[in-house]
Order: sequence, then structure tokens, then C-alpha cells
Amino acid sequence: MSDVKLAPSILAADFARLGQQVTEAAQAGADRIHVDVMDGHFVPNLSMGPAIVQSLRRVTDLPLETHLMVTDPDLFLDEFAAAGSDSLLVHWEGNANLHRTVQRIRTLGKRAGVVINPATPAAVLEEIVQDVDQVLVMTVNPGFGHQQFIRTTVPKIGRVRELIERRNPGCEVEVDGGIDATTAPLVVRAGATALVAGSAIFGDRDGVTAAMNRLRDASRDMEYNNATINGNAA
Ligand code: DX5
Ligand code: ZN
Repeated sequence: MSDVKLAPSILAADFARLGQQVTEAAQAGADRIHVDVMDGHFVPNLSMGPAIVQSLRRVTDLPLETHLMVTDPDLFLDEFAAAGSDSLLVHWEGNANLHRTVQRIRTLGKRAGVVINPATPAAVLEEIVQDVDQVLVMTVNPGFGHQQFIRTTVPKIGRVRELIERRNPGCEVEVDGGIDATTAPLVVRAGATALVAGSAIFGDRDGVTAAMNRLRDASRDMEYNNATINGNAA
């Protein structure tokens, strides 16, 4: 099995030293940088906009993954694409025309992803998974960093992986929220192929490199095990 990808979330970074922190994450082997965009409406918090993506674009060659926690993502796709986002992740919740949004992202030449909240079942992905490059399963309710991992999302990760194996095997299964060295093995075993982590990387007192090594070690050798997770026969 190939190594799990790591996507440090800059929501937990020190914004006064953002370029430096991203460079450190890149040197420690980050696969991409996760940018959390919040509008104070879709989620009860405000974070950052395209200007941050534009600045980051100048300091790193890593793919910039933009997680849009906004009420109407369609209004911002062009702007983030122009700023330098490589992938645009949009929520299933509240989007009455998700297929159109995904097609627009593809037209812009960007990777497309669909995000589902903890209370949203895997089954809603059935008719969209073949059109996306990644699914992001929220393992906390979106809106804030440093929240507690919601354990009931683990079997759902397995169901998402199963659906993906069936309908679009090239699609990634990424997880977001409360991921650290304790929860990483659980989600990887359940089927996650990429991990977003904010506070476990930028909030670690030993520094970004040590934190990333710890996360990587914790997820290594944790093969996807569908039989155990879903109670299916092998
Ligand atoms: C939550 C965001 C996450 C957040 C994760 O709404 O989507 O990406 O940064 O932070 P941690 O890893 O601290 O839970
Ligand atoms: Zn996120």
C-alpha cells in the first residue's frame, strides 16, 4: 500500500510566520497544504480568503488544497483558481447544484473534491463520486481547529472507501478534524488515504518536523482493512 498523504492545515499555523511554517512543512515532506476558508455563515467562524492563497503560491510549489466552508462556493471558484489553488473542495451540504459546481471546478482545470459533514451519510456520494478526484470526510463538525475527533465517523470512512473502490478507484479518501498520532491509525485502517491535520502539526511543541514524523509513523503499516471495519467477510 502506498504511503498516506499528509495535508497540514494552516488554520493552526502562526499567521505572522505563515511562509516559514509552510516551508517547514514542505521540508518535512508535506504532500499538500490545506487552506480552510470560512465565511461566518456556513460555519460560525471567519478565516481566510484568496489573498492568502496568492501569497502562499509565491512561497511553495506544493499543491494548495482549498476547503471551502462557505454558503455559496460558486461565487468564489474563479477567484481561488486565479489565486493559485490546485484543488477546490466543496461541501455536499446546502449545495442544490453540486454537479454543476464540480463541473465548473473541472472547467477551471482544478482538482475537485466533495466534503461531507459528520451527520451526512456516505450514501449521498453515490451519484457524484465518479466526477471527483477526492472525497473529504469531516471527522469533526467544520468551523474550528483543535476539536475532538468524532469516533462514530470511523465506520463511515469505511463505507466511503467501499463506494470509491466500486465506482471510482482512483479517487482519494481524505479525512479532516482531530487527526493526531492516536486517531490517524484508526482512519487509515478504515480506508483514509490522505490526512488533514492542523493542531497536531502546527500546534505541536516539538515543532512541525517532529509532529509530521510522528503522524507518518502512526499511520504506517495500517493497511486498509475493510473486513474488520465493516464486518464483511474477506
Ligand atoms: C475544521 C477544518 C480543519 C481544521 C482541522 O473546520 O476544516 O481543516 O483545520 O484542525 P485540527 O487538525 O486541529 O482538528
Ligand atoms: Zn479543512
